Amino acid sequence: MKLQIDGREVTVPKGTNLIEAGKKAGIFVPHFCYHPGLPVVGVCRICLCEIEGRPKLVAGCATPVEEGLKVITQSAKVREARKAVMEFLLIHHPLDCPQCDKGGECTLQDYTMLMGPSRSRFTFEKQTWPEEDVGGKLLLNKNRCILCLRCVNLCKFVAGEDEIAVLSRGEETYIGTVAGRKIQNEMAGNIADICPVGALTSKDFRFRSRPWELKPVASVCTLCSKGCNVTMGYHPRRNEVVRITARENMDVNEWWICDRGRGGFWGIHHPNRFTAPLRREGTAVSVTTWQAAMPAIVDALSGILAKHGAAAVGVVGSGELTNEECYLTRAIFRDGLGIANLDFPLRPQPPVIYPRFTIEGDKNPNTRGARAIGVAPGPGGLGLADMMRAAADGTIRALLFLRGGPLEQFGDPAVVAKALGNAALVVVIDNLPSPVSERAHWVLPGVSYAEREGTYTNSQGRVQRAAKVFTMRGDTREDWRILQDLGRSMGAWTHLDQAPEQIFRRLAADHPAFRGLDYTILGDRGAPLAAATADVAVG
Ligand code: SF4
Ligand code: SF4
Ligand code: FES
Repeated sequence: MKLQIDGREVTVPKGTNLIEAGKKAGIFVPHFCYHPGLPVVGVCRICLCEIEGRPKLVAGCATPVEEGLKVITQSAKVREARKAVMEFLLIHHPLDCPQCDKGGECTLQDYTMLMGPSRSRFTFEKQTWPEEDVGGKLLLNKNRCILCLRCVNLCKFVAGEDEIAVLSRGEETYIGTVAGRKIQNEMAGNIADICPVGALTSKDFRFRSRPWELKPVASVCTLCSKGCNVTMGYHPRRNEVVRITARENMDVNEWWICDRGRGGFWGIHHPNRFTAPLRREGTAVSVTTWQAAMPAIVDALSGILAKHGAAAVGVVGSGELTNEECYLTRAIFRDGLGIANLDFPLRPQPPVIYPRFTIEGDKNPNTRGARAIGVAPGPGGLGLADMMRAAADGTIRALLFLRGGPLEQFGDPAVVAKALGNAALVVVIDNLPSPVSERAHWVLPGVSYAEREGTYTNSQGRVQRAAKVFTMRGDTREDWRILQDLGRSMGAWTHLDQAPEQIFRRLAADHPAFRGLDYTILGDRGAPLAAATADVAVG
């Protein structure tokens, strides 16, 4: 439909409202209660617009476009109306921006500066409520609430739970949890992103930083195979990721992420992280250096390969690794060194299914990528369970784990424990301790998903880029560098790639499922695997 907004002509599909039509025309229509991912409620009235020839102002969020409409968003009448709305919203609102956690990214603060009255005519005592822990990741400060209903509707329509409601009536109206129960749904953290004021804020992020101190970095969550698009809030001075928020991608997660992904930064900065290579001899564990560890590992592995052949080595890959790292895994161990015993563990859990969002049950972010690339047994090679049995009975003498984890992740825990106990060489690359790394002869400190660039193929077969957000202090190395170094030292990899993008180019050239893709095409929204081959390759 063709219409004019402030004299600018724009064409939008039937059913589009004036706010979205304005966006398309590059004209901003303010809004509090409207969110493109939630039902229109039309309660805040800040989006009032004028339509030529009509006596009354209309709510931009609740008014669909019509052919030939002439919309005015900047008349004196509109400005007066919006100013009045702002004055009403601020009647009970505390003027505590300097100490409010939302300060700097608060819509009410922005609009007050833009169009609100600079003084209040309200001389009576303001309503006050104490702050409240409402469960999940949220704290509620009712004093700041403008009753926009976004929180109510997010719980209701995205999570399918009536956990937050509008309570009481008239001037006493407030937002609260139903029957005082704590919020349980795992989507509720999104409210901290969409609450337009500092009423429902994140417990995790609270007072840890001002938003303007953060560098936002576009990346993806790797805590399940959904691959939600996220923004990492990186605090450069502290060299720390201090929050993770949702980043819109209509092909993957729309506007939302789950609370597990939102809390992912705690693992990134876990106090127990490995910061240097470790050597275990008997029960003694000592910190060592890369200069000592790598040649020793290469010697031991080469010795076993020379003496007992490739069948005496098992490589346990990982669906947590990037496509680039999976490519190196296959190229170095299977194609280069001829090790056919190659596999990786699946990490299934029951999915959590909400009406408008599913938290995937596959906890590997890259099962599809690993499969498409062929992190799988070569001809005559053993799968994971058989590999563990062969190591337990002494046929396999060296085990390389490209990520650790609980024993049961790799098979029968008793068999895995025996395998780890019997193998002459156990090497683990990981960033956090686990029952596997506790039994390894060598631990090489890899990095978390926020410290290395690369791509992951999510459960839909969409390849997406994850960013390197920061470099941790300590002697860690990106997993792709460790693999490349190991491959070069073993004579199984001749390249010296300086960035995952170079490795991705090789991957795209070698594996049909990735053909035609590159980092530019993937951009910050990703792209699907080549459709014709992806399903065949994934199996
Ligand atoms: S708490 Fe926030 S999202 Fe909920 S109604 Fe109040 S202002 Fe809106
Ligand atoms: S659904 Fe999965 S990918 Fe998305 S935020 Fe949650 S854990 Fe991360
Ligand atoms: S945004 Fe239109 S009424 Fe709230």
